[in-house]
Amino acid sequence: METGVQAVANKAEMQGIAEGWRRAGHSVGLVPTMGSLHEGHLSLVRRARAQCERVAVSVFVNPLQFGPAEDFDAYPRDEERDLMLLRKEGVDVAYLPAVGEMYPPGATTRVRVHSLDEKLEGAHRPGHFEGVATIVTKLFNAARPNRAYFGQKDAQQVALIARMTRDLDMDVEVVVLPTVRDPDGVALSSRNAYLTEDERRAARSLVGALRVANEAFGEGERDATRLRRRMVDVLAAEPLVRPDYVEVVDPATFDSPGTLAVLAARVGRTRLIDNHPLGQPL
Ligand code: PAF
Repeated sequence: METGVQAVANKAEMQGIAEGWRRAGHSVGLVPTMGSLHEGHLSLVRRARAQCERVAVSVFVNPLQFGPAEDFDAYPRDEERDLMLLRKEGVDVAYLPAVGEMYPPGATTRVRVHSLDEKLEGAHRPGHFEGVATIVTKLFNAARPNRAYFGQKDAQQVALIARMTRDLDMDVEVVVLPTVRDPDGVALSSRNAYLTEDERRAARSLVGALRVANEAFGEGERDATRLRRRMVDVLAAEPLVRPDYVEVVDPATFDSPGTLAVLAARVGRTRLIDNHPLGQPL
């Protein structure tokens, strides 16, 4: 059923609403997003809706998690469409703070999850996870959720947030939902919008590599080096794809070996990430 969604830009107002929900005994779900919403985000919203009495979705393109040479300015934004989708999903509040509201002058405090934030994705995007941990902490402080919803697509982000909530005794349950894929297997990502037709075709090799590793795992292969080699070979056969990393890691520590196949690659000029817990259907 379609209802109104209250758009809130001010953190004190968001805190006041969340406080009211809590006082009324309502459970609160938060879905943090950077907008440009797709079915992956909506699967999180639907789960939050099913599990919580009140649902807030934040839409904030967080400058702190983008490197100086990254796509902060170009990142796709469509607030009107996002609000329309959130209204359809019956979300109670869309929290849309401006950059100055989140990071007023003099706001120099940062949250770091040491070690985990330096591996793989963190090594290729210095400062990225500090930006993620800081904004997620701030969003938790604004929306006071009982549960917060994240996609498995960003596996290292999920591990980092789970670690952070545990280490800082945050009273928030981190709920992780499976990656949503297009019919050709490509993981949904707001950055897919950057791909040309040829690049989009080439992007299938990322899930192709994960499938090959998953099949080998299903046939009993457990050697991380050999699993990794199989994935690298699939990506090497696609000239438009340049891998940043391909690994098989522990899903909590991101140390190798493990059972989570993870990869990042440039497809043309667009950087995409994907992963798969080996042994699960793909
Ligand atoms: O996954 C994302 O979209 C972002 O990293 C998040 C969690 C909303 C923080 O900006």
